[in-house]
Amino acid sequence: ILMSLLLIATIFTWYSLFTPKPLPVNVSRDSRWFTTQPASTCQRAENMVFIKTHKTGSTSLHCIFCRYGYANKLSFVFSTRNTINGHIRKENLNQSIILPPIGGIVNSSSKYNILTGHVSYKRETINSFMEANPIYVTILREPAAQVESHMNFFRHRKQVMASMQAFLKNPRTPGDAESRNNQLREFGLSFESTLNETTVNETIMRLDQEFDLVLILEYFDESLILLKNLLCWGFENIQYLAQNQRTTRETITDTFRHN
Ligand SMILES: *[C@@H]1O[C@H](CO)[C@@H](O)[C@H](O)[C@H]1NC(C)=O
Ligand SMILES: *[C@@H]1O[C@H](CO)[C@@H](O)[C@H](O)[C@H]1NC(C)=O
Ligand SMILES: *[C@@H]1O[C@H](CO)[C@@H](O)[C@H](O)[C@H]1NC(C)=O
Ligand SMILES: *[C@@H]1O[C@H](CO)[C@@H](O)[C@H](O)[C@H]1NC(C)=O
Ligand SMILES: *[C@@H]1O[C@H](CO)[C@@H](O)[C@H](O)[C@H]1NC(C)=O
Repeated sequence: ILMSLLLIATIFTWYSLFTPKPLPVNVSRDSRWFTTQPASTCQRAENMVFIKTHKTGSTSLHCIFCRYGYANKLSFVFSTRNTINGHIRKENLNQSIILPPIGGIVNSSSKYNILTGHVSYKRETINSFMEANPIYVTILREPAAQVESHMNFFRHRKQVMASMQAFLKNPRTPGDAESRNNQLREFGLSFESTLNETTVNETIMRLDQEFDLVLILEYFDESLILLKNLLCWGFENIQYLAQNQRTTRETITDTFRHN
């Protein structure tokens, strides 16, 4: 009897320890992310725009989109001028610099399924050559960690540290802006605009409306589950190997993070 009681007590303790508590905040903003329907009742997304940001784990995500598009014979937006990886980067977005889609250009119109390389976010222009209603996603990262990664990857450490000190003295100097506010600047804001807090707030609110999903590097796996539900994909579609990761990283001091 004693053993049974002990066993019951143990089971009860374990049960109360591991029963999930309700989430403290109301996160059910968009039912597409949290669908409980089986995958067979939703439609797999084929048209998507991934605005690839720098030093945010975006290459791991890029590979997921590339693999899906390759396996499903979808057409990608790749620049004719960048033979390394087809990224468009800051080049003037113009259909004449994009490789033709699968099947070639028909009646002088060409439509694409997937845009996943670096590109500046110009929604109207992008929509003009994408198939109808693409899903827009991007990925962001905690800013101090992103700056540290950015300055080390681009070997800007000295300039960035110098500009951090300059920043302390005069936060509105636009010089040496390479690693500053660049997560927001990837969405089309000029450096000067990022110094206007009203513009920054308005831009964040607009982007929040325009994007279907913003993944967060610190919650990469959780973000992938939301992506899977949004695109009506299976688990096999979101398997990944981390790409482009460093083995060493610098300590970020509280002062650096605060600045
Ligand atoms: C959570 O959000 C949904 C949808 O906006 C709303 O209907 C519901 O009342 C909210 N629940 C709470 C506890 O705020
Ligand atoms: C795109 O590039 C072509 C060729 O360089 C040019 O003729 C055309 O005007 C450009 N279109 C836009 C919208 O910039
Ligand atoms: C291309 O144009 C021709 C002639 O107008 C038309 O017959 C054909 O259906 C068009 N093809 C597509 C794929 O729209
Ligand atoms: C911008 O948003 C932040 C966070 O919500 C807020 O603290 C700040 O007052 C806002 N600034 C302006 C100028 O609206
Ligand atoms: C900041 O942006 C707002 C909204 O675009 C504008 O009304 C305001 O004049 C700007 N402030 C400065 C100092 O440029």
